[in-house]
Amino acid sequence: MTKSIDDIEQLLSRMGLDEKIGQLNLVNPGGQVLTGAVASVDVDRKIREGRVGMMFGTASLDQRRDIQSICLSQTRLGIPMLFASDVIHGYRTALPLPIALACSWDPDLVRRAAHLSATEARADGIDLTFAPMVDVTRDPRWGRVAEGFGESSKLASVMSAAMVEGFQGDQGKNGTLLDVDRMAACVKHFAGYGAADGGREYASVNLGPIELHETHLPPFKSAIEAGVKALMPGFHALDRIPVTAHPELLVEVLREAWRFDGLIISDYTAIAELIAHGLGDASDVAAAAMKATVDIDMVGETYEQQLSQLVRDKRVSSESIDMACRRVLTLKYELGLFEDPMRYLDQQRAKETIGGSTILREAREMVSRCCVLLKNEQNILPLSIEKMSAQSTAPSIAFIGPLADDRSNLPGTWSVSADVDGCVSLHDGVREWVGDDVRIETARGCNLTDSQQLAERLNVFGETVTIDERSIDVMVDEAVQVARSCDVVLLAIGEAKEHAGECSSRTELSLSQSTQTLARRLREAGRPIVWVVFSGRPLVLTECIDQADAVLYVWYGGSLSGPGIADVLFGKTNPSGRLCMSLPRSVGQIPVHHDALPTGRPLPKDFVFEKFKSCYLDESNDPLFPFGYGLTYSNVAYDRPSVTTSVADEDVTVFAELVVTNTGERSCEEVVQCYLHGPAGPVSRPVWKLHDFRRVTLRPGESKMVRFQVDPEAWNFFAGRRIGEMRWERCHGEARIGIGPNAAELVSTNVAV
Ligand code: BGC
Repeated sequence: MTKSIDDIEQLLSRMGLDEKIGQLNLVNPGGQVLTGAVASVDVDRKIREGRVGMMFGTASLDQRRDIQSICLSQTRLGIPMLFASDVIHGYRTALPLPIALACSWDPDLVRRAAHLSATEARADGIDLTFAPMVDVTRDPRWGRVAEGFGESSKLASVMSAAMVEGFQGDQGKNGTLLDVDRMAACVKHFAGYGAADGGREYASVNLGPIELHETHLPPFKSAIEAGVKALMPGFHALDRIPVTAHPELLVEVLREAWRFDGLIISDYTAIAELIAHGLGDASDVAAAAMKATVDIDMVGETYEQQLSQLVRDKRVSSESIDMACRRVLTLKYELGLFEDPMRYLDQQRAKETIGGSTILREAREMVSRCCVLLKNEQNILPLSIEKMSAQSTAPSIAFIGPLADDRSNLPGTWSVSADVDGCVSLHDGVREWVGDDVRIETARGCNLTDSQQLAERLNVFGETVTIDERSIDVMVDEAVQVARSCDVVLLAIGEAKEHAGECSSRTELSLSQSTQTLARRLREAGRPIVWVVFSGRPLVLTECIDQADAVLYVWYGGSLSGPGIADVLFGKTNPSGRLCMSLPRSVGQIPVHHDALPTGRPLPKDFVFEKFKSCYLDESNDPLFPFGYGLTYSNVAYDRPSVTTSVADEDVTVFAELVVTNTGERSCEEVVQCYLHGPAGPVSRPVWKLHDFRRVTLRPGESKMVRFQVDPEAWNFFAGRRIGEMRWERCHGEARIGIGPNAAELVSTNVAV
């Protein structure tokens, strides 16, 4: 019996080569969503022969119990199975998408979200999640921006650590993960996957070592510092080298420089796909992945088929197999699977825990704290039943748009275990608020997509998109009439859940043609119009946002979307979400993000075009809404920051402080943001780069002092030529610090560092 970590060596010594290789085999029997063309075959026999170490995509707790019993009683060594799953944003109770969670700018909320996800998932017998995804994302054409934390390396790093801590808890950092409400995390997709060429899924990535180190690696380092147990390389090639076989990245940076000793789990069939990348045949690619210290082969079974021969041919050492197997056994030990594997497969606990009232309450609050208010003319929001009743004898709301009363999309992409029937629509959430005092009228008005072919692609995991067979004119006429008969219009539009996610890249980011027509023509009704925009990515709203009086960007919020959004619409929650990705004006501007580098020919301030300056002939350089942007139902005034420094051994620490005042009539939470521009040196620095932020709660009329500290290393830059040899260098000179409510409204001060 493996009771202590030392017993693992003893267990290893009793294992045959095939049994060790079996522990490196992660299979998917195909009970759930498949993200590749392949499902594993002959799984039952392989399990009995000890040739499967980990599984994901299993169908139910009962199935997991059966499998575990077989492992314990019918395999030669009785090594327990480890069950994994993609627990990306909630489990049975779907929580807001990661991109939405990041818009809270609240690491505590993100920590809680991961903890709730782990609570439900572990109660259902899942030991490890393939999350968080911490790829920095600047290209909203890429569907997987939904799964990440946006464009800022700093914000993604903060959220990365928070998610790992939430999944794994404090214990995780020190080794064991025995609590029944925690699970192991697997940070992904190492590294640079978010910079796929053209935003096209699985495409190659071309990043120099400085950009890779400065922008894309920090969120991974942050996860590792938080004690993450596993890491997944991406599907992509980085500067021509597929990362699943990238010793410089995986060995020199990850294992040696960062001392990561957890599991490296390949992505779905990614080892076998190295053949298509051009790295050789099955034996070559298995050897290459082993050389890069990839421990686990997900689904492809290339290790299963190749490794023993490779050991016999001395192309792979038996020590490297031992090392990989030791890592798997160690994680199983840390997860308590040797001690009491059935402890995590308890039907009673599953029944009591999953979908519990605390989880539902928190889920609702999370939805409301992730919404971003982009526009609110004449303070049309929050809606008030009293105000409506005073103005009208029979107050009424027109609910228009294909998402007004939809549940099927609400879980958002990558929610394989979510309970769709348990989702509450916007319509039902608002109905709960207004009771029977308010008349609600509905009209569909438009389609999420007007293309039948696209609708079929979006319905790959079940129908969430239908196309109304009526003509656009008929649909719109009906909606205008309904709008006319009500006091206010709620227009629920955007994209479908599967418009975003894996392999959901888009070249067009505008609202569908029928949505745009509807948005324009609704004006004819002469009623105030509030847009509620559901989406898994930043959309281009430029064409018709002028037609809205208020715009609430709600992303996909999961099970409790309706009530959570209603809490914001009716003012129970004062919105405090801030964009974690800029909203572009047009697809042609992409990538557009706050930390772009300067050019030698910058466009002068307040210019849209000047010949021979860096700009477009036909579009401004600025996004429609900048990174960090978001309104509240209050107003916050920012005083000028004062900056002081302290010097020790030539190293300068900068302190910036300022007073912010709530000049509005409601309590609010303000996200005060601090950006830096580094001093002159051999390397070009972003015009501004997010350094830090503070969330401040302010009662009406209240002022608070907000302080930031900038340590000397914040001004460092990366130098070197190879990914494996990059180092930080210090640099002194005149720098800039900017503070404000978003990346485009900073008050800047020069400082010598
Ligand atoms: C995705 C991973 C995911 C895996 C297992 C892959 O296609 O890239 O992020 O964890 O499938 O579902």
